[in-house]
Amino acid sequence: MRINSPKLNIMYKACMKASKSLIRDFGEIENLQVSSKGPGDFVSSADKRTEKIIINELLKAYPDYGILSEEAGHINEKNKNNRWIVDPIDGTSNFLNGIPQFSISIGYEENKEIKSGLIYDPIKNELFFAETGNGAFLNNSRIRVSKKKKLKHSLIGTGGPKSNSKLKNEIFLEFLEVSKNVETPIRKFGSASLDLANVACGRFDGFWQNELSYWDIAAGIVIIKEAGGFIDFLDNDVNESKKRNLVASNSLIHEELVALIKKKNIENN
Ligand code: IPD
Ligand code: CA
Ligand code: CA
Repeated sequence: MRINSPKLNIMYKACMKASKSLIRDFGEIENLQVSSKGPGDFVSSADKRTEKIIINELLKAYPDYGILSEEAGHINEKNKNNRWIVDPIDGTSNFLNGIPQFSISIGYEENKEIKSGLIYDPIKNELFFAETGNGAFLNNSRIRVSKKKKLKHSLIGTGGPKSNSKLKNEIFLEFLEVSKNVETPIRKFGSASLDLANVACGRFDGFWQNELSYWDIAAGIVIIKEAGGFIDFLDNDVNESKKRNLVASNSLIHEELVALIKKKNIENN
């Protein structure tokens, strides 16, 4: 790893250990137990197995640190200053349908600020990581956001809405608004962490999505920032229990993209 950091080393170790069983599970999806958490929201034995390996490794290294993980919830909740934020499989629906677009995402938060992040795509063997002040990397190479200047010429990604979303109409209106202003159709790949990683390395010029959970984006936040990108949360309340509405892009098209998404809000509220 190009950054020599105790936190990233632990995250990396946990992630690599977990990814071995995840790849095995991906090869045998028909054998997994799957249950529903809500409409269109599934959890499999692979999510739980992956999560358990990651949590065990993190706790082995730092027994007192807090953890917020999608399936397990809070661990060591009293420690609010040092916390890991884990999504064991981001892109579960892709995973369960045999589509190779999912990741393990781990962020490290200190005093409420994400300091390090790692997103690993085990199928492409692509490891995105960053730590505050030390740049962002994809495997051994430094990454930066794109230099695209005009939204019109940009490749933009999005996701959602969830089937039980109360914002469905607004989300579709946003989609319409952005679609009308780009030449290449918007992409929807189904793993928000990898969407953010794609912005960080310049494959996407921008990405926006409503109602994301903290574990979907924690690692991506620092990776985008360290790659020179901008992130805006379109609601003022970034309390973790709330869903987050996020726009991330290179610095050059950011204002234009945010304005379009907000324009929809003004027109429809
Ligand atoms: C989901 C993915 C997806 C996004 C959903 C998330 P999960 O996470 O990130 O791209 O559209 O909002 O819930 O459930 O696969 O961990
Ligand atoms: Ca997720
Ligand atoms: Ca997940």
